[in-house]
Amino acid sequence: MAVDLWRTGLLLSFLTLCACLEEECVLGIVGRSVSLPCVYSELLTFVNISIEWRRGSEVVLKSKWREDGNVEICSTNSLIISADAPLTGNFSLKLPTVDPKEDKTYYSLFVTSQGNHSAPLCTVCLKTAASFSSPLLLREEAQGDETVFLCHSSGGFPAPAVYWFINDTHEPPEGSVKTQASSLPHSRLYNVTSHLTANISKESRVSCIIENMYMKETLSSTSYGVRGSPVVRRASEAMWMFSTALCVVVGVMVVAGVFYQIHLDRVSKKKKKQYQHSRPGRGHRRREPDTEETEAMKLGPKETDV
Ligand SMILES: *[C@@H]1O[C@H](CO)[C@@H](O)[C@H](O)[C@H]1NC(C)=O
Ligand SMILES: *[C@@H]1O[C@H](CO)[C@@H](O)[C@H](O)[C@H]1NC(C)=O
Ligand SMILES: *[C@@H]1O[C@H](CO)[C@@H](O)[C@H](O)[C@H]1NC(C)=O
Ligand SMILES: *[C@@H]1O[C@H](CO)[C@@H](O)[C@H](O)[C@H]1NC(C)=O
Ligand SMILES: *[C@@H]1O[C@H](CO)[C@@H](O)[C@H](O)[C@H]1NC(C)=O
Ligand SMILES: *[C@@H]1O[C@H](CO)[C@@H](O)[C@H](O)[C@H]1NC(C)=O
Repeated sequence: MAVDLWRTGLLLSFLTLCACLEEECVLGIVGRSVSLPCVYSELLTFVNISIEWRRGSEVVLKSKWREDGNVEICSTNSLIISADAPLTGNFSLKLPTVDPKEDKTYYSLFVTSQGNHSAPLCTVCLKTAASFSSPLLLREEAQGDETVFLCHSSGGFPAPAVYWFINDTHEPPEGSVKTQASSLPHSRLYNVTSHLTANISKESRVSCIIENMYMKETLSSTSYGVRGSPVVRRASEAMWMFSTALCVVVGVMVVAGVFYQIHLDRVSKKKKKQYQHSRPGRGHRRREPDTEETEAMKLGPKETDV
């Protein structure tokens, strides 16, 4: 019983320790630099100091400060530590570029100039993250009543969570989503492809959301229903047909009007000629129909052009 309690206690303390370490993880963005913090001012009292930064059990940086001011720093992967660290107490380790392979690695600082260096002065956990590309969403050809949507994004870390929404609020039916995330062999960055296959009406809006928890970043892409375009096309077709018909009708009316006018003018001219023949001597009135006729003739071609 006592042993059980003791074990539970140990397990609990271990779990809380893990939780604390998890919280203390420093986020490094892939390709950028990051500083793993370690400040320990008590070392200021020592005269000769040597330290080691280790990644897991591997020594990645060694440094020795002598009382005569001589400093020796050697490191792998061009890691950096401040040369006056013992003066400032700032032993932070700077990584010039973060690699996704270093996700969830623990870095520890040990003081090796003292007898007892079994316990690290600092332990810092590093987690790494990279942004995904803006998702590409495609509506693929339907198979029967079912429509297939494809959502693709690449170059992120760690593996993302993918969500789909229909009309902004509806989750897709169970079993309709298949997501595959594959880690690229060299970079360990992820490509993610998700398929949504469902009976979704063409009017529905479909969104694909890619969430990177580490980066606290969500990217989304939306496919608007296809209703918009065909309706607009149909409407514009109707408009075209209507306006063409209107033009034709107006044109025909104008031409008919012009010919009718010409016909009327000719008729009246003939009548007037007959009238003039019967009643000569009223010259000034005779000119009016002439001018009217030429105006009508001039007007004719102009309007038929329209
Ligand atoms: C510091 O190191 C130097 C060289 O290793 C040594 O000569 C000196 O005695 C050391 N000083 C102390 C205080 O240990
Ligand atoms: C320690 O040094 C690093 C750079 O090496 C710097 O980013 C960090 O702010 C420093 N920390 C403190 C507490 O001064
Ligand atoms: C070494 O350090 C550990 C942890 O800090 C401590 O428990 C232990 O007593 C130390 N041993 C010696 C010999 O100082
Ligand atoms: C990952 O995605 C990129 C861009 O879409 C593509 O060029 C590459 O071939 C993909 N790699 C794998 C392993 O799927
Ligand atoms: C889709 O709808 C068709 C007919 O409307 C039906 O036969 C089919 O089972 C439906 N598929 C799913 C997955 O609901
Ligand atoms: C989404 O909305 C459109 C119209 O806005 C509607 O026709 C369609 O049925 C809706 N789809 C779902 C799955 O609710």
